[in-house]
Amino acid sequence: MAAVIEDIIARKVFNNRGEETIEVDVITAQGFGRVAAPAGKSRGKAEVVYYPTGGVDQAIKKVDDLIAPEIVGLNADCQEEIDKTLHEIDGSKDFRSIGGNTAYAISLACAEAAANSNGLLLFQYLGGHIAHELPYPLGNTISGGQHAGGRSPDIQEFLVISHGADTFLEAASANVQVHKRIGEILSKKDKLFSGGRSDEGAWVANIGNAEAFEVLAKACEEKSGELGFKCGIGIDLASSSLWSAKEKKYDYTRENQKRDSGEQLEYVLELAKKYHLAYVEDPFHEEDFGSFAELSKKIKNCLVCGDDLFTTNSERLNRGVKMHSGNAIIIKVNQVGTLSDAWETIELALRNGYAPVMSHRSGDTCDWHIAQLAVAFKCPVIKAGVVEGARTAKMNELIRIEEFLGDRAKMADLEMLKEV
Ligand code: PGA
Ligand code: ZN
Repeated sequence: MAAVIEDIIARKVFNNRGEETIEVDVITAQGFGRVAAPAGKSRGKAEVVYYPTGGVDQAIKKVDDLIAPEIVGLNADCQEEIDKTLHEIDGSKDFRSIGGNTAYAISLACAEAAANSNGLLLFQYLGGHIAHELPYPLGNTISGGQHAGGRSPDIQEFLVISHGADTFLEAASANVQVHKRIGEILSKKDKLFSGGRSDEGAWVANIGNAEAFEVLAKACEEKSGELGFKCGIGIDLASSSLWSAKEKKYDYTRENQKRDSGEQLEYVLELAKKYHLAYVEDPFHEEDFGSFAELSKKIKNCLVCGDDLFTTNSERLNRGVKMHSGNAIIIKVNQVGTLSDAWETIELALRNGYAPVMSHRSGDTCDWHIAQLAVAFKCPVIKAGVVEGARTAKMNELIRIEEFLGDRAKMADLEMLKEV
C-alpha cells in the first residue's frame, strides 16, 4: 500500500544522560513513525558528525526549512530514495551539514511509518517472512574506561552473553540474574560500594581489571550452574581510548601498566583462554586492522568484533574483509546516518561471514527500534545493555517480538560459540 508522507515533525528531547537529542515523527495518511536518535561517548573517528553547528536546534531548523519540503510527498516505502535525498540535501561526506543524527531519525522514522501504514511490525516490513530469528542479548555488567572514570577498570565493558539459552526471554532473564549477582558480590567485597551504575546500567566499582574478571566469572559460573545453560563472558576494550599514539602503547592507568601491540595481543589471548571469552570488541585501536587479523587467526571460538574499527562503514568493513580482520561487526546505524547505508554494511558482513551485532549507544533513549532491526537484519547478537530504562526498552521489545512470532520464533545460530 502506498504510504505517502504527509508531514515530518522534528523536536528536541533528552537522552538518558540528559543530553539534547532529536526526535522525528513521520506521518502518512494511514500510519506513523517516531524515532529518537542516540549518542555515543567513546566514538570512532570515522563516524559521521551528529549535528550541524548550532546543535539540535539547528538540526530542527534544517528539517523544517530544507528536508521536510523535499521528503513530504515521497512514498515512505521508498527507503533508498529517501536516504539518497538526505545525502543530496546534506552534500557532505559525513552529514556535517544536516547532522547524522537528523538523517538517522528521519530515515528510520520513514521505515517505521511505512511498516505501520502497511499494518506490519518493522521487522516484518524490512525482513519479510523469513525474519524469525531472535538475537542473543549481550549486555554490560561492569563499566570502566571512558564510561566510568575514577578508580574503575581500564577496560570499558565487562559483558555477559547467555548463549546457551533456548529462548530470548531465558537469555535476557539470565543476563539480568548475572548482573544482579555481580551487584551482590561487589557489595560484599567492598563496604564502600555505593551501588552506582553507569549510563548503560552497568556497575561502577573501585576494582581493577583482574578483579572485574573474577567477579564476572564467578557470577556467570554460578548462574550457568543454576540455570543449566551457558552464561558466557565478553569484553569491549574500546582500545582507541587506551592507545597512546605517541608512545605506541596501550596505557592501562589503573594497573599502571603499558602494553605495546604484541603485548596487547598476548594479553587478550590469555584472557580469552582463562575466561573462555565468547566475545571481544575493539581489542586494538581503530586503525590497527593488522593486529585484528592476527588475533582472529589465533583465537578460537570467539567473536572478534570491530566497533570503532569499522564504524558501520562499508568501505572500512571491505578493508577488514580483505585483511581478515575480525569476524563480527558492531552495527550502530547512527555511525553512518541512514538505514540504507547500514544495510549495505550488514549485507557485506553477512556475505563475508561476519556476524553483525546490532548495538545501542551509551547515550540512548527508550526508543526500541534497534530491537526490530536486529530481527529484520538477521543479527545473531544484540548489544543493548542489561538493565536501565533505555536498555530495558530494547530487551522488552524483543520479548514482545518473540511472543508475536510464537512457534516460528527461533534463536539465532551462533554455531561458533557452541564450543566455548
Ligand atoms: P559509545 O560506545 O559510548 O560510543 O556508545 C559504546 C561502545 O564502545 O560500544
Ligand atoms: Zn565499543
